[in-house]
Amino acid sequence: MDLSREEQEMLDGKYGKATKKSMEIITTLGEIYGAERLISVSSVQIAGVSYHNLGEAGLEYLAGMAEDGRTKVLTTLNPAGMDLVEWKKHGINNDFARNQQRVVDIFNRMGVVTTCTCTPYLIGNLPHYGEHIAWAESSAVCFANSVIGALTNREGGPSALAAALTGRTAEYGLHLRENRIAQVKYEVQTKLEDTDDFGLLGHVIGVRTGKEIPYITGIVSVTMEKLKSFSASVATYGGVALFHMENITPNRTLVPDRTEVVTREDLDAARMTLDDDEADIDFISIGCPHASIKEIARVAELLEGKRVAEGKTVWITTAKPTKELAIMMGYYETIENAGAFLVSDACCAVAPLKERFKGLMTDSAKACFYARGKNKFKTEIRSIEQCLEEAVT
Ligand code: F3S
Repeated sequence: MDLSREEQEMLDGKYGKATKKSMEIITTLGEIYGAERLISVSSVQIAGVSYHNLGEAGLEYLAGMAEDGRTKVLTTLNPAGMDLVEWKKHGINNDFARNQQRVVDIFNRMGVVTTCTCTPYLIGNLPHYGEHIAWAESSAVCFANSVIGALTNREGGPSALAAALTGRTAEYGLHLRENRIAQVKYEVQTKLEDTDDFGLLGHVIGVRTGKEIPYITGIVSVTMEKLKSFSASVATYGGVALFHMENITPNRTLVPDRTEVVTREDLDAARMTLDDDEADIDFISIGCPHASIKEIARVAELLEGKRVAEGKTVWITTAKPTKELAIMMGYYETIENAGAFLVSDACCAVAPLKERFKGLMTDSAKACFYARGKNKFKTEIRSIEQCLEEAVT
């Protein structure tokens, strides 16, 4: 692999041991995937932040990197296991909170912007079309590649950190235009309504397409919120890191001949797959991926003057800057007065919630996947409106 003088010096240890270790990770990955050179990245997003997933071994690795490692480019974090300020009222225990704070402090020492969110593009970590970046969270990677038109592979925790500490990544995979061409066409022959419908579409296409890049037609109108729901779902159920949507996403591609059809029956079948029989709903969560201010405003409107029913817990999860905006606008007060929680920095999948609830209702197909797999909850997927109706019933 061709390395510039500066890159070679980083690899040789001239800039310290964290930079050296990072360069070793990046060049090893580059060699495995046949990269010819390294490229600069302008933005990084690191996943694997919850102490629940990291444990002591992960924390020790990070502490070693923080001894002399400092970020070279704008870097933000994926959700942690708790709201870093209001964790106590969400039922997080002291031990977990202390350890989670240790993780965040270490990232902070390295110069990472420690706002913990899977929608970095909503809070200022927003690349432009054509920029090379190194992001890790699957829904954000899919959104960045497809909706924004930035270029990123799906990084792992260590490789994203390595990119942050060097400002480089190896040029392979989705950094190369020839690997971004659509492979299968999906004709959507039904009208989609809310974010839950877009999650169901992600489920249908994700399961069918696997890792093949889809070219989707028939979607007439979208919002950013619907695209983030679709990105999360298609990445979860199919491992897709890039999609094309006719007249909606900005990347150019050839249109594939191979065509599949998606009907309302397919979406209904996906809904039945995500709906467990006799789910006893005691947990309602909106904000996977993290809620936008528009979604929070809608939640506040729907909860105005209502009260969350006894025995039910409601989490609306979002990024800290968005929560601050919600506080400023009075949405936080409305939501919390209704007995729901506006939780920042965390989400229902990475918080330590196992055994706390029996059944989750959510508008997110991705949240269903993790609720079942990780937390052993039963699930039901509904629109935001229906979720909140359930919450106050
Ligand atoms: Fe984000 Fe957590 Fe969903 S990281 S995409 S809110 S599972």
